[in-house]
Order: sequence, then structure tokens, then C-alpha cells
Amino acid sequence: MCGIVGAIADRDVVPVLIEGLKRLEYRGYDSAGIAVVNDRDVRRVRRTGRVAEMADAAAAEGFHASLGIGHTRWATHGGVTEANAHPHISHGIALVHNGIIENHEEQREKLGALGYAFESQTDTEVIAHLIHHHLKQGNGDLLGALQRVVKELTGAYALAVISRAEPGRMVCARMGCPLLIGLGEGENFVASDVSAVVQATRNVVFLEEGDTAEVARDGVRVYDRNDQPVERETHVSSVSLSSLELGPYRHFMQKEIHEQPRAIGDTIEATIDGGFVPELFGRNAAAVLEGIEGVQILACGTSYYAGLTARYWIEGMAGMPCSVEIASEYRYRQAYADPKHLVVTISQSGETLDTMEALKHAKSLGRAHTLSICNVPESAIPRASELVCYTRAGAEIGVASTKAFTTQLAALFQLAVVLAKLRGRLGADDEAQCLEQLRQLPGGVQQALNLEPQVVAWAEKFAAKQNALFLGRGLHYPIALEGALKLKEISYIHAEAYPAGELKHGPLALVDSAMPVVVIAPNNSLLEKVKSNMQEVRARGGELFVFADQDSNFGESEGVHVIRTPRHVGLLSPVVHTIPVQLLAYHTALARGTDVDKPRNLAKSVTVE
Ligand code: G6P
Repeated sequence: MCGIVGAIADRDVVPVLIEGLKRLEYRGYDSAGIAVVNDRDVRRVRRTGRVAEMADAAAAEGFHASLGIGHTRWATHGGVTEANAHPHISHGIALVHNGIIENHEEQREKLGALGYAFESQTDTEVIAHLIHHHLKQGNGDLLGALQRVVKELTGAYALAVISRAEPGRMVCARMGCPLLIGLGEGENFVASDVSAVVQATRNVVFLEEGDTAEVARDGVRVYDRNDQPVERETHVSSVSLSSLELGPYRHFMQKEIHEQPRAIGDTIEATIDGGFVPELFGRNAAAVLEGIEGVQILACGTSYYAGLTARYWIEGMAGMPCSVEIASEYRYRQAYADPKHLVVTISQSGETLDTMEALKHAKSLGRAHTLSICNVPESAIPRASELVCYTRAGAEIGVASTKAFTTQLAALFQLAVVLAKLRGRLGADDEAQCLEQLRQLPGGVQQALNLEPQVVAWAEKFAAKQNALFLGRGLHYPIALEGALKLKEISYIHAEAYPAGELKHGPLALVDSAMPVVVIAPNNSLLEKVKSNMQEVRARGGELFVFADQDSNFGESEGVHVIRTPRHVGLLSPVVHTIPVQLLAYHTALARGTDVDKPRNLAKSVTVE
């Protein structure tokens, strides 16, 4: 969602801001802007649409400065208009904001009575006026005013503020939304995401909840929630620049789909070398995992589907209860909370607000043990968790998650095996077999990628459709859900997924010759059941598109198209079957000409409710 970048340097920071905003584009946004302090004046340019258009406008207006802030906005309060785009300005004070100010209406009323006029419908503009109001009252300098203002705000924010009166620094604050400071040589930066500053520096300081900071050319000072100076550790970011670049690919989604054998290989590397040991989940993991008696998984979107798949593994292998819940539901529920159940959050970004809040809620209900499965090191959710397992997918830029999902599955499979071992439910032979299946996984995924030309032929048919139905059973039902989600996210075709056995309880009413039905049908104990469900579709004229592995023994016939996925890889089969449904969504979207990497209305990191 929204993104922040700010810079103070001896050099012109406008190219740094533009580059930073371009690297934040993947998060999803609908308008962009920058503000700079120059000759004791604040200048601003904002545009709806792409960062490139805003950058052209800034160039045309001759923007150059050594202090500035920039923002990509994803509309929440107020429509997609230039007036609502950030930065917002009040009397020479410019600021950018991520998050939502919940008491903005009350503040707006108060400021209105004080004579402030509003130019936008945003919740953000009140903050600019509040800072000005405090400065006018003589309540300290820019930092002091910001520290007072944040205590009057409820909600979530990451803020970066500049003022024409103080050209030597930026000030910033965070609560509920990530913000970091990038440390350069004689220049410093702020950003909501490390990718925005990695071209300038890898040394970063993550602000903690309630922190404020002042960022000057030659130094940075951080203050805690009580406004006391505090030292925060400097981290060296490992984000690779190549993962942020497209290379020979047409889209990041395409690149990320094709990176999966490598991403999975990296994620399972430690297990292949050292076996299924609790330490894969953190130094103290053995003590925690030995004592737990169940698992509660919390996540959103694609990560939730990874959790649904894991339930089959955890209950099946480890023989312990595993429940999986959408984070935005769990967080508002007085759920039964067994302290002996491990809370597992799954999040690519590590900053999805609902998942973070669900984690806090679980803790408040007395859940003592928490594990985060996450792709972004040092992000908020792993930092709030007792145990951590980082997937090693590398930066995922396409809004529709691909390699993050399959690496989450790889990590969750390892968790299930470790739990099964600790509970004495896995013999040496079974463990060796799990290791062998894991070892073969990157190869199986590569073979599935080789099916791309066949999937392209299907995608051409799908591109003309309005609806699609995905069916799966057991372990592959979550993959049907993921296939439907991918298709709707990027091609805008209405797609639903059902457990195939549920077909006759409703969705069969939708089936006619215009309805393509995708079936995930590997050769497992449910195959014969799935075949019966397929007959039900054919009998109503529905056209079947079946992904069946080499052992499934399926033939093509009228209205039944079959793509053969690689030889069955046991319990890891859902990972392999994910690849063709990703490719189907990608090529269907391509054929329909949608913006694959930045689908309309969606964001990569959902940092608001
Ligand atoms: C957004 C993204 C999805 C993602 C979901 C959860 O909706 O577009 O791709 O699955 O958020 O995100 P997380 O970062 O917590 O996995």
C-alpha cells in the first residue's frame, strides 16, 4: 500500500526520491507526489497515476533540492485525486503519511474551529495543520511539535515531515506502520520499506512502535515513546538489487513464477544439509515445540491458503489439532485460546496489519508461544514473534503472490515433519522419505514450469470467459482456492473454488457450457472421488480443464482437456500443482491485457484494515 521515502544530502535528492518511489510501486498505489525544501520554501508536485508521470512533471518544473520527501498513496479516505495525494502542506510544513488516523474527524472539527481550511478529504491533512498549530503556539521546534501531535492521534501512522523553517532536517514518527532510517555517508534517508533506499545504503535502523526521530545530513537521533533519546541497532540489509529488477522478464510475476525452483531450493537448504531439526525455527525452538499440543494458524490472502494446506500436513503427520483462521476474523473474536497451542502467523511481507493485530490478539488471550513464517527479514510480525522461520524467496514485487506461497508451503511442510518427529510419530524411514521428497521438490517445480506452452493454449480460451470454477479435494483443495484467487486478482475473471465434493451443494447450478471448470486431480486416494465429481460437471455441459499427474491415468475426450503434471511427489504434490494454476492466471491476464504486476484496486502489503 502507501509508501514513504525521504532524503537529506549534499546532492540533489530528487532523483533519489523518484527512484525510491519507483521501487515502492509494487506495493500498490494510485497517486504519487514529492515535496522539497529549497531556498526556504516548500515546493510540491503530485499526480494521480504512475510515478513516472509525476517525475516528468517534477522535471518540467525544475525540481532540485537537498531535502525532500515522497509518497505513493493507495486511497482510503477520499478518492483518487491530486488534492488527496500526499505530501500535504500546512504553512510551509509538508508531510507524508502511511496508515489511518482514526480520530481525524474530531481533529478536523477542532482545527476548523481554529480557522484551518482543508484542501483534501484525507485523514492525513489534519496532522500537517496540528503540527503548524503547535508551532504557532510556541510549543517547541518541528520535532517537539511532532512529538506532541502524535500523542493526540489515534490509529496507525508512519510519518515523515519537512519544514521550510528547518531546512537542515527531516523528522519522522511511527506507530503501527513500518518506518526505517537509511544511514549514508553525509546523507541520510527515511523509508517505509528498505527497497526504497537500498540503491543508496544498506545500513538501516528500524524504528520501534512510538519512536520519533530527527534525520539530518550528518546524524540521526531517535527518541522512544516517552521522547527520551534511545539507541536502536543498525542492521545491514540483505535485499539484493537483482531481486528488485525485472531482468529479461516481461513482468515481475513471470520472473517470480520462474524463480520458484531457486526460491524453494534456498528455503529448504538448511534441512537438506542438516535434517529436520527444531532449530530451523529459531534457537529456542526445541523447548517450545516439544511442549505444544496444537497449532493455530493466522494469515490473510494467499498466506491463508498456505495455512489451509499446512493443516493437512500437521494433523496428518504430527497428529495434533491445527486450526486455520483468516486474521481479520480472528482478531475480533473471543476465540478459545489454549495456551499449549502454538500460534503460527504466515505473512510474505511481515507487515499485514490484520495479521499483526491477530497476533497481538492471540497474545492478549493468553497464547504464550508464537512462530512467524515470513519472507521479509526484520519486518514487524517476525519481530513480535517468539520463533521465526524466514522463507528465502527473495523480494516479491508482483502484487499476486507466487514464490512466497510455494516457499511458505516448503517451510510449513518442514514444520509438520519437525512436529511429527518431536511427537515420536515419524520413523527413520518416513523421515528419510520426507527428506527425499523435499530434495526432489525444486526439480518437480521446474518440470511443472516446463508445461508453460500447454498452459498458454488454455489461457487463450480462458481469456474470453466471464467466470471460472476451480475444484480440488483434500490437500489440493487449498490449491484450487489459490488458483481461483490468482485468476481473479490479475485477470479480473470471476473465479471461485470449491472442494469437489461440495459441487452438488450449490456451485453445480452455475455449470453450463460457458463455465470452464479447472480440476486439480493428482493420483491420490481421492482421485476416484474427483473423477465422479468431474462426471457431474460433464453431464451439465461444463468444459473440464484437468491438471493430472503422470500416474492419474486420464485421457482427453470431448470437453475434457488434460495437462499432465510431473510424477507424483507425495505429500508435497500441492506445491507442484500450484505452478500450472499460477501460469494459467498469468497467461490469461496477459491475453486480456491487464496490468499483471499491479492489478487494479489491490496492494502488495495491506497495512490498513
Ligand atoms: C495482499 C497481497 C496478497 C497477500 C496478502 C497477505 O492481499 O496482494 O498477495 O497474500 O496481502 O499478505 P502477506 O504479506 O501477509 O502474506
